[in-house]
Amino acid sequence: MFDFSPDPNGSKADLYRDLLAAASALTDGERDGVANMANVAALLGEFLPSCNWTGFYRMVNGELVLGPFVGRPACIRIPVGVGVCGAAAETGQTQLVDDVHAFPGHIACDAQSRSELVVPIKQAGQVIAVIDLDSPDLAFFDEEDRDGIEALAAMLADRI
Ligand code: SME
Repeated sequence: MFDFSPDPNGSKADLYRDLLAAASALTDGERDGVANMANVAALLGEFLPSCNWTGFYRMVNGELVLGPFVGRPACIRIPVGVGVCGAAAETGQTQLVDDVHAFPGHIACDAQSRSELVVPIKQAGQVIAVIDLDSPDLAFFDEEDRDGIEALAAMLADRI
């Protein structure tokens, strides 16, 4: 049994340190990318309780396709350049969006979502997937979240 859980009294830095360690332990030595993404999506859902959607989109034949996630059913295919995930895939840059309603082309999968963090996962400079986090709170994510999820993305690059 895996028994990872965040320290309720820890700082955000502690949270992301523990999350990275748990994700690394869970995916270490496992070659199946879907299994690894599924476990990390579940960890994110548990470690980041103010999120209503935590998961992955994978780059498949030039478009983003829904991967393992925790949350409500979501749109399956997202063209590169469209919405927050598509912007991350197109630019290769993290997208930190305080208010999704103000983001041109935002794709509403869950009407409750108000802020979003999307971090690309790259192999040899190419975006192979994105990690997508949604929160029902306005401006929920900050630079510490961005740094924490970027570290997670770097660790996962050759495990998904
Ligand atoms: N809101 C995203 C779409 C994916 S869902 O949030 C799960 C976007 O605009 O790319």
